[in-house]
Amino acid sequence: RPSLGITALGTYVPEQVVTNADFEARMDTSAEWIESRTGIRERRFAAPGEFTSDLGVKAVQDLLVRDPDALREVDAVICATATPDALFPSTAALIAGQVGLVGAGAFDLSTACSGFVYGLSMAQGLILAGTARRVLVVGAEVLSRLVDQDDRNTAILFGDGAGAAVVGEVPSGYGFQNFVLGADSAGGSSLYAPCMADRLPGGFPMEGRVGMNGREVFKFAVRVLGDSGTQVLAHSGLTSADVDWVIPHQANIRIIEAANARFGVPMSKTVVNLGRYGNTSSATVPLALREALDDGRVQDGQQLLLVAFGGGLSWAAGTLKW
Ligand code: ACO
Repeated sequence: RPSLGITALGTYVPEQVVTNADFEARMDTSAEWIESRTGIRERRFAAPGEFTSDLGVKAVQDLLVRDPDALREVDAVICATATPDALFPSTAALIAGQVGLVGAGAFDLSTACSGFVYGLSMAQGLILAGTARRVLVVGAEVLSRLVDQDDRNTAILFGDGAGAAVVGEVPSGYGFQNFVLGADSAGGSSLYAPCMADRLPGGFPMEGRVGMNGREVFKFAVRVLGDSGTQVLAHSGLTSADVDWVIPHQANIRIIEAANARFGVPMSKTVVNLGRYGNTSSATVPLALREALDDGRVQDGQQLLLVAFGGGLSWAAGTLKW
């Protein structure tokens, strides 16, 4: 079978910087509490009138600046997002329409913060099945508008951003090795954003914009990041010693440290940028990978491990030779 991987990668973050001090000024929290509990110092918020599709389009434009030919042969578009512009049309279709991909298959993918890694796996499947030649995978979010900005439990965690990757054929020996995907609705009551229903199956009432039991999500995240990272390395015939860089979902520095300890890769080999962007959900993995490519940390031929978790509760891990 052909080797498939990421052939182009672009990102975008909005201009407005919101610091921990900004939260301290308007709610019962402190900049020190936020940084010490999460590692987050600041995040970006979309401008009024700037929506998920706008962020996604800007990430695709960044990709095109780097490689003007990148969208050639793209015939499917996946947008991983928890904050779509609308239930329909899909945000993927809206992005496709603005970047010259009218007619490509387009759909949104709902696994919250795991969405980008899920999307890479879906793209690989579409190509291997012969349904698509190349696939554009976008992770884009305006979480700042989904969360209640007066709820200190959630507001401080999230930021807005986008990443866009083209998945296609790469030279033999490079690209994706394996993916592990999972979900467990038993954790649904620990992290939810209501839409059509006011309760979960079984009767758990969903209240507010985003409901979260931070301690439960924390424990879940450490377990599934650790376990799925271990599993995907084993499926790929790799050990933790083979990993050059972990590119984790950026939710909380303490989650990343604890999960790394479980699959056995040191923090010195882990890309962390949540201090500047907070949790941008499906955009964290492409934002971290793009940064590590731009500053020369990730280099040709290196072994990457991608790990993510999110609402669902869901998780996704992937191995990739860059
Ligand atoms: N400022 C000050 N105090 C706060 C704040 C705040 N912003 N938020 C909560 N607190 C309080 C709580 O009310 C609690 O008070 P109490 O003890 O009187 O009840 C106290 O701080 C301690 O709360 P803990 O839950 O013990 O704090 P913890 O160390 O677990 O940190 C945090 C909380 C940061 C939320 C952590 O649990 C966490 O990161 N969990 C994971 C959350 C996450 O990643 N969510 C995103 C999932 S991805 C997706 O798909 C959307």
